[in-house]
Amino acid sequence: MGPGPVEVDPRVLNAMSMPMLGQFDPHFTENMNEIMSLYRGIFCTQNEWTLLVDGTARAGIEALMVSVLSPGDKILVPVFGRFGHLLSEIATRCRAEVVTIHTEWGTVFEPQQIEDAIKKHQPKVLACVQGDTSTTMAQPLNEIGKICRAHDVLICVDATASITGMPLLTDDWQIDGVTAGLQKCLSGPPGIAPITINDRIASLVRSRKHIEEGIRPDDYEAADGEMIQSNYFDLSMIMDYWSPARLNHHTEATSMLYAARECARIVLKEGWDKRFARHSQTSEALVNGLSAMDLKVFGDLNNKMPNVTGVYIPSTVEGDKVRGEMLSDYGIEIGTSFGPLHGKIWRIGTMGFGCRKDNVLACLAALEMTLRRNGHSAAPGAGVDAALAVYNNERHATKMAS
Ligand SMILES: Cc1ncc(COP(=O)(O)O)c(C=O)c1O
Repeated sequence: MGPGPVEVDPRVLNAMSMPMLGQFDPHFTENMNEIMSLYRGIFCTQNEWTLLVDGTARAGIEALMVSVLSPGDKILVPVFGRFGHLLSEIATRCRAEVVTIHTEWGTVFEPQQIEDAIKKHQPKVLACVQGDTSTTMAQPLNEIGKICRAHDVLICVDATASITGMPLLTDDWQIDGVTAGLQKCLSGPPGIAPITINDRIASLVRSRKHIEEGIRPDDYEAADGEMIQSNYFDLSMIMDYWSPARLNHHTEATSMLYAARECARIVLKEGWDKRFARHSQTSEALVNGLSAMDLKVFGDLNNKMPNVTGVYIPSTVEGDKVRGEMLSDYGIEIGTSFGPLHGKIWRIGTMGFGCRKDNVLACLAALEMTLRRNGHSAAPGAGVDAALAVYNNERHATKMAS
């Protein structure tokens, strides 16, 4: 129950054990086409260019950034946690001119703050995290996409930690590029990065298209734009590989593709309403349970991600000792945090396959016992009772009675 990577759905593990196919085997290329279509469903988009980049989630981010940003391009990054810093660091390595704006960890930006920064700095690109796992906060994006479009700024979103745990309407919100990973709510292993880009980004990428020697078609002519600085993350070549041209680029990570396909099938089969209701009910149960144990939940609850919950470590206990005992005594992993929050909060993940009532109740019970042995006592059973009240729809009745 950490903030990811999370427990992999057994159906995904099963899919990964299927035999390898050659990368031009018709069944394999049919699989690639099916995956593109499944991930259009996951990203809620009609984008033709919806595919997978091999590597963990940051491989998707790097591919998008290095393919979009030429040296000297200006990019604005609103930072509200560790992963905003990651976007800014990757853009710096692309030798872009990076401007950051900041808000206190545990809060998010108002759309007006972002619009003001766009007007002031006039960037070519805005890169933003949707859900920053380090702070458990989710930045609302629906208005920000529109603001970017109105100012002709490309918006790229890192949805690694939020994808399928909360809504992300790529097309409706006018988001130009989105990247993700499997290891959070998609309940797959880390190692492949789903990505979608619209025509605005695709044409920019094509304007920088250079094909490596040895696989160039006879009619090849390099595009005028600056060559993309990375071969592995060159989206124009990756697009060729995923297109009917099937121009060979890297050797595809076959079993990761099988995993990604199964992850998407499971999500789409469950359906959005049921899935989002499951994540938000679990979040509410966990928050209610923790609060009943005299613990304080971290951050602005109006913008909390439903799939990860931060909770202050009581000053009387040692955070890492409690985490260690949760793991060794109960087999339950909870997370620490980074930067200014390191040692101050624990983070508890309730993502995808792991987002279940039995997990929440077991975690609260184990935490209560562990905290009691470490000197922080709450009323026995209070956390589990308060979580059950949410699941049993008794919360209102409990409040009224007390
Ligand atoms: C929001 C966010 N972005 C990016 C990453 C980086 O992903 P990876 O470690 O898979 O490269 C993570 C990982 O936790 C994340 O939570």
